[in-house]
Amino acid sequence: MTQLTTNSDPTLSDNTANHSPTSLNSFAPRLLDWFAENGRHDLPWQQHQTDAPNPYIVWLSEVMLQQTQVTTVLPYFARFMASFPTVQDLAAAEWDTVAEHWAGLGYYARARNLHKGAKQLVEVIDETGDFPQTLASWESISGVGPSTAGAIMAMGLHRYGVICDGNVKRVLTRWAAIDGDITKSATTKELWALAERLTPKENSGLFAQAMMDMGATLCTRSKPACLLCPLQEDCLAHAEGRETDYPVKAKKQPKPSKFSNALLIKDIDGNILWLQRPDNGIWGGLWSLPLQFIKKTDGKISGKTTVKNDTKLNVASHEKIYEAEFTTAEQIINEWLDKHKLEAKAVSKTLLDDAPIKHSLTHFHWYLTPQSLTLNVKQTTKITEALQAAEININWLNADAAQVTLGLPRAMVKILE
Ligand code: ADE
Ligand code: SF4
Repeated sequence: MTQLTTNSDPTLSDNTANHSPTSLNSFAPRLLDWFAENGRHDLPWQQHQTDAPNPYIVWLSEVMLQQTQVTTVLPYFARFMASFPTVQDLAAAEWDTVAEHWAGLGYYARARNLHKGAKQLVEVIDETGDFPQTLASWESISGVGPSTAGAIMAMGLHRYGVICDGNVKRVLTRWAAIDGDITKSATTKELWALAERLTPKENSGLFAQAMMDMGATLCTRSKPACLLCPLQEDCLAHAEGRETDYPVKAKKQPKPSKFSNALLIKDIDGNILWLQRPDNGIWGGLWSLPLQFIKKTDGKISGKTTVKNDTKLNVASHEKIYEAEFTTAEQIINEWLDKHKLEAKAVSKTLLDDAPIKHSLTHFHWYLTPQSLTLNVKQTTKITEALQAAEININWLNADAAQVTLGLPRAMVKILE
């Protein structure tokens, strides 16, 4: 980086940035002019053209947009609004119905928080007669972090609110050549301070929408369109031709891999056994096939490979992790299969050997291998009873019916396909 004006530079009254007050003060007007001409004004959740904004719509869309792109969210948002036109409708819905509507959007914790958040919002409304009106009260709603709360204040209530999400961080680190690791709290603080400094007291909602549009359409991750950018003349990263060096982010550890069998346990009519997963943990509250974790070390499935002495510890700790990840239902099923010497068989040789289904989650890659097993009538009754005795929600449904009536995670749909 060339010249850095430090925070202690006495010629700068602002302690927020590497820019002059003139640059800082003209940021919002330039951005808003650009937005008026070139921004998106037809997204179904936008409330900037109405005098009576609907905070429910903004809250719902912001939660959906947290880790998902606009084009993916659009049809989901439409279905949510059709089925749950008000927060009361969403709060009153069964979790299974919400899960069905969410299935495929990923990051299921968001859906659970959304449903919980809807109930919390209805409580506030019943008590006070209205949606929360302060930043702090929005932040206390499940699934609403500081940036989402700022977005709702600004765009959903037309009050003052500041956003500093991933898009904003990318724009600001570039414009001000902020080269601290954005996963570090010192950098986060610096970026929030800058976002606050730049956000106009009036029209913070328009400003928020404009920043989001800038980040999504101009200042994109790999190919920023600097020539069209209203911030180009004083963008420090652009001046150095180093746009894509920002934001600086510590290298992530490579994701670990997990390997499981996905059991297609069928009755004689071809109905498949489905389990509703516990609320906490992966795919919480959604329906899935029972899983069998395959222990795998050094790229080979353990049990079939000799393990060197010095890797034993590693293997043991792997096993602990795997055991902890079985749900009660899966333990019951796996023990029951063991006891009756029943073994699921590969659906096809190819699938088993070459092409397990790969599913990438936030913290790991998951390789799922479908294995099939058909039970006779007596066995079907026995396993059903064993699971019901443990109060586990189960369903016997064929592939088509399961896809239509259960909220299945994407990975399960992949397996059925
Ligand atoms: N990403 C997050 N919120 C958004 C919004 N309101 N419009 C477009 N993209 C977004
Ligand atoms: Fe982003 Fe380029 Fe604009 Fe700088 S000039 S803010 S890098 S689009």
